[in-house]
Amino acid sequence: MTEPLLDVRGVSKYFGGVHALEDVSMDLHAGEVVALAGDNGAGKSTLIKAISGVHKVDRGDILLEGKPVTYESPQQARDHGIETIYQDLALADNLSIGANIFLGREPKRKAFGFLPVLDRGLMADAAKETMRRLDFHVDRLSAPVSAFSGGQRQAVAIGRAIYWNAKILIMDEPTAALGVPEQRKVIALIKSLKEQGKGVIFISHNLGDIFAVADRIVVLRRGIKAGERKPDETTGDEIVRLMVGG
Ligand SMILES: Nc1ncnc2c1ncn2[C@@H]1O[C@H](COP(=O)(O)OP(=O)(O)O)[C@@H](O)[C@H]1O
Ligand SMILES: [Mg+2]
Repeated sequence: MTEPLLDVRGVSKYFGGVHALEDVSMDLHAGEVVALAGDNGAGKSTLIKAISGVHKVDRGDILLEGKPVTYESPQQARDHGIETIYQDLALADNLSIGANIFLGREPKRKAFGFLPVLDRGLMADAAKETMRRLDFHVDRLSAPVSAFSGGQRQAVAIGRAIYWNAKILIMDEPTAALGVPEQRKVIALIKSLKEQGKGVIFISHNLGDIFAVADRIVVLRRGIKAGERKPDETTGDEIVRLMVGG
């Protein structure tokens, strides 16, 4: 067995008297998709925020490729290859795919000795290449992303993460707001990330999506890890039982 990309060991996180996470462990290997399942308030968001540098944990360790890490900010986690895509996607609606990929990290070029200007050519090339890598076809690469469907916007957010060489992609309910054909496309995107050797953690309420793409399912219940299963060794009924208890 190779060393995991990510190893979460005995992590606890409290908000005042609320035990949002209690002694939770999980790992993630390159080329693997782990689904996080659990009812509302189970601790799913808290766990991904602990991994992505939003929350500091109160106990336990997080190791990246075998080394213990503590991040002071989400930016530090990103610098180490952990990209998190929240439900709001954090896209700038009025900008193109390329501009969204470079949001806050815009490439500049010198224009005849004057002030540096945005390198739009480089941004357009990056957009084209990134969407090609995801095998995701978009007609109007220069259009503002507000013109795109929910699935296409999800693809742009994923594209931004892989352009910056994310090793680990974390997605909070990536298919929740989408219609069925678009859900399928996002599931296909997750499969292509797996084929590219990325590690993917995704939160989902949709058992169909979980069983379609996950290599392992980690179930949380009231801050505790209720179980971990491989899709071919469990059933939807068992996952629901783990989620709700009893
Ligand atoms: N920033 C916070 N402050 C106080 N309590 C929080 C905070 N974030 C989460 N919680 C609490 O921690 C528990 C787990 O929440 P969360 O991780 O959001 O669950 P999930 O994402 O599985 O719905 C809940 O009881 C929630 O109310
Ligand atoms: Mg949540």
